[in-house]
Amino acid sequence: MDDYRKMYEKSVNPETAEAFWGEQATRFIDWIRPFDTVRMGGFEVGDHAWFVGGQMNVSSSCLDKHLPKLASKPAIVWEADEPGTCETLTYLDVLHGTCRIANALKVTGAAKGDFVTIYMPMMPDTAMAMLACTRIGAPHTVVFAGFTASSLRDRILDSQSKWVLTSDVGKRGSKTIKLKEITDAAVSQCPKVQKIFVFKRTGEEVPTNRDVDVHMDELLPKMRPYCPPTPVAAEDTLFTLYTSGSTGKPKGVAHAAAGYLLQAAMTCLYSFDLRETDVFACVADVGWITGHSYIVYGPLCNGATTVMFESVPTYPDPGRYWDLVDRHGVTVFYTAPTAIRALMAHGEAPVKKYSRASLRILGTVGEPINPEAWRWYYEVVGDKRCSIVDTYWQTETGGHVMTPLPGVTPMKPGSCCLPFFGVVPKVLDSQTGAELRETAVDGVLAFGQSWPGACRTVWGDHERYMNTYLLPYPPNYFTGDGCRRDEDGYFWIMGRIDDVLNTSGHRIGTAEVESALVAHQAVAQAATVGYPHDIKGQGICCYLELTKGYEESPELIKELKGAVRSAIGPFATPDLIIAVPLPKTRSGKIMRRILRKVAAGEESQLGDVTTLADPTVVDALITKVKKVQ
Ligand code: WTA
Repeated sequence: MDDYRKMYEKSVNPETAEAFWGEQATRFIDWIRPFDTVRMGGFEVGDHAWFVGGQMNVSSSCLDKHLPKLASKPAIVWEADEPGTCETLTYLDVLHGTCRIANALKVTGAAKGDFVTIYMPMMPDTAMAMLACTRIGAPHTVVFAGFTASSLRDRILDSQSKWVLTSDVGKRGSKTIKLKEITDAAVSQCPKVQKIFVFKRTGEEVPTNRDVDVHMDELLPKMRPYCPPTPVAAEDTLFTLYTSGSTGKPKGVAHAAAGYLLQAAMTCLYSFDLRETDVFACVADVGWITGHSYIVYGPLCNGATTVMFESVPTYPDPGRYWDLVDRHGVTVFYTAPTAIRALMAHGEAPVKKYSRASLRILGTVGEPINPEAWRWYYEVVGDKRCSIVDTYWQTETGGHVMTPLPGVTPMKPGSCCLPFFGVVPKVLDSQTGAELRETAVDGVLAFGQSWPGACRTVWGDHERYMNTYLLPYPPNYFTGDGCRRDEDGYFWIMGRIDDVLNTSGHRIGTAEVESALVAHQAVAQAATVGYPHDIKGQGICCYLELTKGYEESPELIKELKGAVRSAIGPFATPDLIIAVPLPKTRSGKIMRRILRKVAAGEESQLGDVTTLADPTVVDALITKVKKVQ
């Protein structure tokens, strides 16, 4: 802990921070041209920048840097959806694969600065496609392969992608997802897209359009397995990734090449105490930030072996993760509380069936972990032998910003413990914005100064970036989360305080769900809230007023759930849809506080309801919700 405190102090103290970060940047990144200035600007006007003047290439720092020493070391171990089907790619294989895809992009016309959308399943080609984009300096936008055509279309349009990479189909828990068909539907409304690059996952027949489609299985073998890395500026956009906010459409969070890579690599090394012999399994999807940072960029920049897991934890049975651990000798395992809770429900037997002797460190991310799930993870999965690292971070932070360091930080179940290097957490009063300086306090969580992996802008909308993150509590970065700092200075995340839901670790804006609902002619008005859910963390509860002439029926509810599914994706399907008169103030504003309390079964804590236009709706609401739940 003394070493952590000393290093932390160096990383945040204005007198020593530049030397500290300059050293780290040199350690993890291969610079083509050294940087002139470690950091510039700040959160005041949102112009923070790191390693300015430097030029580098992300794929070189993840691949070429390790050669020839690690040429034959496994870089990616792929565990396919079909149990027992796996494939190992060495660092040299991944470099060749990446370069071939980079060359295929280039011969087709893609150039530095062009946006590329990647809509692919969890297969090694997807990681190599991301690296190939970085090879040629083309920012990527990965869209989770569970999103529907309209969500994919919106992301292609917003990023102005000219190139889309997909595969014939995706596989997940034995289900087949028709990715090429969905891509075609999305691209038919995206006039700027020039080519669709199609990889083969299963090789089954899919619709083809010779003018637009590029068949990668035909083109790649013809490509040279080496492609010179294109130098990019440290601050050039490496990728954008869309995430939900409290209002409007998802925003394209933009990360800078060097700062992001350093954040991913350094946190991967320290938070997981990564060693040369580690087999690192982050079982998230590359379509989310966790997959970007801890399946692809973090582990590869450290020369580690990374496992890509295509399936789901319960297919073919709830022992799948532990079978994976034993077969590949996984030493570091990283998942989400929702998966832990889902597995807890199946009892200890599926865990105990496997030895799990290789495990050293267990990580968790995505939502607050309840102490019960934490203990199960620690005692049952880790046999009380493994450190648990509860890593708190966001799409916007690039990598961990608060986490214990394994073997160093004394653990407390449910707490993400202490800040990572360079991160200055502050607890603020939500109303006044004043910093609460005592140790044990409750408030909103903000960060006081830029760290290398902090996102730089919202793509195409810097004003939205300022309004969302930097202007609510200037000159701090606002996380959107509530938190408590305890008497030991440990942090406990209390969840989102804005209109963002966290369901099974997925971030969903209530506004997105509502707009999908009101697009249906039966819905006059909708209000969505989260409520405590045993497995998902938060369930999605939608209250709505029906248009005159429509009656509530099981068929209609099913149809409305379907409307949300197809507008956003299956993971956003509402758990409850309740038709009921909405509680509104005299000026017509929906009182969500009441809706939240009722959904959570906390009707005794409704607070003041006298400002309602019609206070009698509350009783009707409570009765109805009780009936439905
Ligand atoms: C929540 C996922 C408590 C938080 C990496 C945050 C957490 C949001 C934790 C970001 C954690 C993430 N403890 N809450 N360890 N990790 N969160 O952008 O509410 O998908 O704001 O990034 O997840 O979700 P995102």
